[in-house]
Amino acid sequence: MKAVALTEFGDPEVLSPQELPDPLVGPDTVLVEVRAAGVNPVDWKIRRGYLQGAFPHHTPLIPGWDVSGVVRAAGPAVTGYRPGDEVVGYVRKDHVQNGTYAELVSAPERTLAPKPSSLNFEQAAGLPLAGLTALQMLRAVGVGEGDVVLVHAAAGGVGHLAVQIARALGATRVIGTASEQNHEYLRELGAEPVSYGEGLVERIADLVGGDGKVDATVDFVGGQALSDSPALVRDAARHGSVVDAQSVLDQGGKYVFVRPDTRDLTWLGELADQGRLRVDVQRTFALDQAAEAQRLLEEGHVRGKLVLTVP
Ligand SMILES: NC(=O)c1ccc[n+]([C@@H]2O[C@H](COP(=O)([O-])OP(=O)(O)OC[C@H]3O[C@@H](n4cnc5c(N)ncnc54)[C@H](OP(=O)(O)O)[C@@H]3O)[C@@H](O)[C@H]2O)c1
Repeated sequence: MKAVALTEFGDPEVLSPQELPDPLVGPDTVLVEVRAAGVNPVDWKIRRGYLQGAFPHHTPLIPGWDVSGVVRAAGPAVTGYRPGDEVVGYVRKDHVQNGTYAELVSAPERTLAPKPSSLNFEQAAGLPLAGLTALQMLRAVGVGEGDVVLVHAAAGGVGHLAVQIARALGATRVIGTASEQNHEYLRELGAEPVSYGEGLVERIADLVGGDGKVDATVDFVGGQALSDSPALVRDAARHGSVVDAQSVLDQGGKYVFVRPDTRDLTWLGELADQGRLRVDVQRTFALDQAAEAQRLLEEGHVRGKLVLTVP
């Protein structure tokens, strides 16, 4: 099969199109013909070698944890999928090697869900990792009916979904941080925009009124946003981050490392099919332009998602 892979860590140029063996189909594994692969910051972090302390890595290494596609074959213990089914998946495995930047990927059944019928393959490939992160983080800080929620980095891959999911979970107000150029976009998504940077705590206090605090914050950027978070919530246990585990735990907040979860992913797909969750794809790239996509994502200012398409 054709794939994009690396044999050494480093800059985007280490990624190159290669001909590699088709993946094996294990007993509880589904072989998926990839139609689109979502690009996530973790992909460039893996490319740079930053996750070597967390997972065993093997080369040639095909990056990518997000997929949408069509089932080609299913192992004998698979109960939920048959050849021809359209699926989405957050295909994180225990070892980093056989990712989704490829024509085929072997996906453990527990990583998959049916593809939402209202999303095309490109949109669907942008949903799993970012959507699950948003949902699992919002749930960890207990977002529910009547809450006022602050989403740091609300225009990004995770953030734009978190804004909408927070509303779906019952939040009455969602405030989102972004640069000025994304403020109208955040309003479209249902959030009240605020610029990030110096003075954020005061701007939020002015906006919310009363004691100047929100019920919960979720952080998708780290740095100053995370440092400011405890001052913005009434209860430190209701602020969370997916970016900086040690800092948020030291502050008494919640850390989430997103887990594959068929039930959660199915729920997100249903939300999309009800017209309550849109997945915005800023740009698509052909598979062999994966390096260019990662370079753009690494600059840190993508709106919504970047996705690779596989013919
Ligand atoms: N622990 C986990 O399981 C997990 C899961 C998913 C993601 N993550 C991490 O979470 C982070 C976000 O992921 P993502 O996919 O959403 O990334 P992304 O799509 O690359 O985020 C880009 C967005 O960040 C915004 N941004 C940049 N600097 C900002 C700042 N100082 N304050 C507020 N917003 C800012 C940009 O808005 P402007 O253009 O308006 O500046 C842009 O829209 C990454 O570090 C990723 O590795 C962790």
